[in-house]
Amino acid sequence: MSAAQEGFELPTPGPEDQAKSLQLIEWFVERMALGPIPFADYMAGVLYHPQYGYYGSGQVAFGAGGDFITAPERSRFFTQGIAYEWRQAREERLHDQILEIGAGSGRLAIDLLEILGEEDRLPSEYIILEISPALAERQAENLQQALPPEVFARVRWIDDWSALDWQGGVVIANEVLDAMPVERFRWVPGQPATAERLLVDFGGERFTWQSAAPDTDMQQAIEAINQRIGRPIVSPRGPVMAEYNPDLARWLAQMATALAGGESWVYLFDYGSHTADIYRADRDEGTLKCHYRHLAHEDPFVYPGLQDITAWVDFQAVEQAARTAGFEIDGERSQAQWLLGTDVPQRVEERLLARPNLTDQARLAQEFRELVMPSEMGERFRVMRLRIGD
Ligand SMILES: C[S@@+](CC[C@H](N)C(=O)[O-])C[C@H]1O[C@@H](n2cnc3c(N)ncnc32)[C@H](O)[C@@H]1O
Repeated sequence: MSAAQEGFELPTPGPEDQAKSLQLIEWFVERMALGPIPFADYMAGVLYHPQYGYYGSGQVAFGAGGDFITAPERSRFFTQGIAYEWRQAREERLHDQILEIGAGSGRLAIDLLEILGEEDRLPSEYIILEISPALAERQAENLQQALPPEVFARVRWIDDWSALDWQGGVVIANEVLDAMPVERFRWVPGQPATAERLLVDFGGERFTWQSAAPDTDMQQAIEAINQRIGRPIVSPRGPVMAEYNPDLARWLAQMATALAGGESWVYLFDYGSHTADIYRADRDEGTLKCHYRHLAHEDPFVYPGLQDITAWVDFQAVEQAARTAGFEIDGERSQAQWLLGTDVPQRVEERLLARPNLTDQARLAQEFRELVMPSEMGERFRVMRLRIGD
């Protein structure tokens, strides 16, 4: 198994990984015996199948040595920003629970609990809602190793909203929305009549795209996209790919119900943009991206179960669905704007002054730059704050 993408060769997985991927392909082929399946079902399987899925089986490797790197894995300064938000929330007398959704390796939880422990501001409970049992296990091991027992004792895992016993506090989700299964379609932007739903079939050697008429949900999603853009799109080019998250409204509605116990501030961090930018007429491949060992490409059929697949988050769609679910929208901004509005720049400066060694200073400055520079994570990564309760 090897794959050439965009002029470069992806590294070839080892024999064990190849065998695991083949088992996943066989699992899909059985499901496709009755016909092609929606792309969202394909993405759900390749990411979350409990034995063979990228997240579901714990295949994912986070960080510099893995397939991709997220903000909390890149720098503790990101988590310092969240600690700042926690202090604000506590000053406003929010209850003292923290809920983290989709905790990955557990890096953010470890750093946040260490920072809050040093400040004597620990939450009464740190709850992790994680849908991958394998990752929940890995998180528990990492947290237990890193944290003092009395701090670790405050952490609890749940795998479903219904298990949340919530009195209020702060909710964090970093790069969770972009890891949710999306539906795909090909259209001439702005023209719903040209839209074709893209399904996934197996062509004997590899997965292939099949076109179908959009179902009612997709028609409604396309109508909503056009309404959010609100002006005709000039599209001199041919059809382009596009995606939307079919589960967004349900997920936010579930969250709203689960948080009913008390006032909550919800921070959704992710990379994405506004509707008119996401559905631009020149995005031939849509916003779907795959990552394998830090190489990014656009073919979701390569190495099923071994590579990450993500799609940009349409923050206007999130806003709309969140309002419908009963949240108040308390701003959306770039990661740079957010972080520069916290006390993190001051902390960076204090740490720089405390380190006369130039090499250390350069490393710290670079860490911060990577979080805030528009060419790095500063602009494309965004944060939306929602409020609910009381
Ligand atoms: C891209 S990783 C991000 C991990 C971590 N937040 C970070 O920033 O390093 C996505 C995480 O969200 C989890 N996840 C995806 N969908 C979820 C859902 N609906 N509920 C809870 N966790 C979810 C995945 O299993 C994984 O832990």
